[in-house]
Amino acid sequence: MVKSNSIQNTEEYIPPPKRHTEPKIAGLRRWLRPKLLATPSEFDLATTADLEHRKTIIFRLQTLLQHNNIQLTQAEQQEIEEGLINDLLGFGAIQSLVDDRSYSEIMVNGPEVIFAECKGKMDETEFVFDDEEHVQWTAQRIVRPLQREFNRCNPMVDARLPDGSRVHLIMPPAALQGTTITIRKFPEKALTWEDLVKFGSLTEDVAQFLRACVIARLNIVVAGGTGSGKTTLLNVISSFIPEDERTLTIEDSAELQLSQRHVVRLETAPPIPGSDEGQLRIRDLVKGSLRMRPDRIVVGEIRDGAALDMLQAMNTGHDGSLTTVHANSPRDAVSRLETLSLMAGMDLPVLVVRSQIASAVHLIVQQARLKDGTRKITQITEVQGMEGENVILQNIFTYTTTGKPGYQPSHEGGGQLMANGLRPKFTERFSEYGIELPPRLFVS
Ligand SMILES: Nc1ncnc2c1ncn2[C@@H]1O[C@H](COP(=O)(O)OP(=O)(O)O)[C@@H](O)[C@H]1O
Ligand SMILES: [Mg+2]
Repeated sequence: MVKSNSIQNTEEYIPPPKRHTEPKIAGLRRWLRPKLLATPSEFDLATTADLEHRKTIIFRLQTLLQHNNIQLTQAEQQEIEEGLINDLLGFGAIQSLVDDRSYSEIMVNGPEVIFAECKGKMDETEFVFDDEEHVQWTAQRIVRPLQREFNRCNPMVDARLPDGSRVHLIMPPAALQGTTITIRKFPEKALTWEDLVKFGSLTEDVAQFLRACVIARLNIVVAGGTGSGKTTLLNVISSFIPEDERTLTIEDSAELQLSQRHVVRLETAPPIPGSDEGQLRIRDLVKGSLRMRPDRIVVGEIRDGAALDMLQAMNTGHDGSLTTVHANSPRDAVSRLETLSLMAGMDLPVLVVRSQIASAVHLIVQQARLKDGTRKITQITEVQGMEGENVILQNIFTYTTTGKPGYQPSHEGGGQLMANGLRPKFTERFSEYGIELPPRLFVS
């Protein structure tokens, strides 16, 4: 039993009862796993739903048991079959968590501790792997079909599964509890702007405003913390891109789900195992994408010197580009973009970078996870340009609670996203694109 040492949390943590496998069965399975394969990669592309492969495994199993004169009860026989099918065709001990759509994330912290998130709540599960070797077996089954290597030379792997889910693997000695697997499932259906209005993350008026901004080809940056809903909001904002525009999406790990037809999806590529060739980073993709005749570039998240390439793309006629950045306020987003651009190593003076930001970015949309656990837009801010050495920011909408008057953004729940009473300077662009927004949108 685990006792919490934290001062605030004196409650004892009691893990759930675990589904340990009898040592006899676990030992047998360990011995049988490699023996049931004709070649190590025989079932790499198979899943537990492949009936033919299941039959093959059961047949080989029975033959082997008979040959070796191993007697099992019916219950033992069943347990061994089920476990082996999951090991050879699936994800081992976590198969049922992988199959169950209500689990969005699965975390294997070594063989004994497995957590999973269901409807936003994360709990320890009853599942366990038999031992470290069992976790490793599953880790290898995950990476092999992806043409990736997971070993002492490549002890950490970040990859995308064929169904779009993300998987991260790290092994000892870095992972102290044993091989650690983190799976983030690909959502079956992306949230729409209507969903976000229903959740109170934005209002219908604000959705209409954002649609106008996209159609009028403003460059928009979504800012927010980890898990605040940046990618989700970027996806919603991208859904406003007109059908007839050629859109390139560039991501580290493809998450965006655009429904338009003329979309080219690009993802960073790791180097060929054992070499440093074949790698494509966000920077390479952003630069390369400019030669692919894009009308729009959507970059999943700007994390490094790619910021400068993105700003240059925005400033050289690729208006209407969209991206996200990890930042806690629009002001912070500007300084993050500045820091990241300087990482590009071009030796540009800070002021040059800053003025590039001021002229490239038109709008910053701040997304946050509030204290009550809800995710909301807390500020929509216009970048108006430079005054002296400063970037001028002007809030257009602010999420405010009654306790926080004066358009100060709030992080308490139960507030409202309200207009600040100022018409953004770029509204002239709306009329150029034939968009009429009701004036009440900007009335506070
Ligand atoms: N506005 C929202 N309301 C409720 N849940 C949301 C909202 N935005 C995102 N989520 C959920 O929050 C989780 C994290 O969202 P994501 O967009 O991946 O965040 P980020 O990109 O900032 O890390 C996802 O499970 C997503 O479905
Ligand atoms: Mg994200």
